[in-house]
Amino acid sequence: MTASAAPLSAPDLSGRTAIVTGGSRGIGKAIAKAFVDQGASVMICSRNEESCAEAAAEIGGSVAYEQAHVAHDDDIERVVEATMNRFGSIDILVNNAATNPYAGPTIDVDIARWNKTIEVNLTAPLMWTQRVWERSMSNGGGAILNIASVGGLVTSPILGTYDMTKSALMHLTSQLAAELAPGVRVNAVAPGLIKTDFARALWEGDAGDQVAESYPLKRLGTVSDIASAAVYLCSDASGWVTGQSLVLDGGGLVSFGNLS
Ligand SMILES: NC(=O)c1ccc[n+]([C@@H]2O[C@H](COP(=O)([O-])OP(=O)(O)OC[C@H]3O[C@@H](n4cnc5c(N)ncnc54)[C@H](OP(=O)(O)O)[C@@H]3O)[C@@H](O)[C@H]2O)c1
Repeated sequence: MTASAAPLSAPDLSGRTAIVTGGSRGIGKAIAKAFVDQGASVMICSRNEESCAEAAAEIGGSVAYEQAHVAHDDDIERVVEATMNRFGSIDILVNNAATNPYAGPTIDVDIARWNKTIEVNLTAPLMWTQRVWERSMSNGGGAILNIASVGGLVTSPILGTYDMTKSALMHLTSQLAAELAPGVRVNAVAPGLIKTDFARALWEGDAGDQVAESYPLKRLGTVSDIASAAVYLCSDASGWVTGQSLVLDGGGLVSFGNLS
């Protein structure tokens, strides 16, 4: 006799509330839109209120916005309170906003930019997680998604400082997954090159074509590639997945060039 199969969980987010940091453009905006499309209410934030307002209008549906610097404690508290007041719970947190103020060998980085990179890319996701845990998830449970980078798994001649923060973010993901289970799942995605403002210097001109050619799947990523993984990792469809970093890079990491 075989056990009957459990029903499949579709990635439905009805009734859930999410905060997406850096939701005014690029990957964050695409994730916010995908969440709303799956039935969630979403709070987006970024440093620029006007671009948040424009993004919210574009996303439509149950979306709110607040101006916030992702690493400022007062701003975090204000956004969390505004989300609780407006929607009543925080079931999903996406730590998406990041910075990359320095390009060059890590041996030469000035400590101001080193600290800034750590503050925004690593300390801020921890601060948001702490606040959301205290305010909602320690009682109500939830799912947290950290946007890391495939760069966190390799070395680079120019992105080593940024990549180091993403590597640490992936470890923080596993650490918090162990600490916050069983109520809260914590996962990450590690994207390869996506055509957004953030990565413009890496794909402008014919640089992007060269990177795309080096990927086994022969194209750069899109914000939708990341958003669909985010919906999966923040919904019950991934209910037995925690502490993982999902590489989304068109196979770049496993291409023969990287293994030689
Ligand atoms: N694009 C890629 O190829 C790529 C690859 C791997 C990983 N990633 C990661 O994906 C995430 C999103 O990147 P993206 O490419 O979508 O970038 P993007 O298009 O430049 O969007 C970044 C978003 O974060 C906000 N932001 C930046 N600094 C902030 C701060 N200090 N406080 C609050 N909000 C802030 C921006 O708005 P304001 O500037 O108005 O604040 C914007 O909404 C980042 O974690 C990045 O490291 C990107």
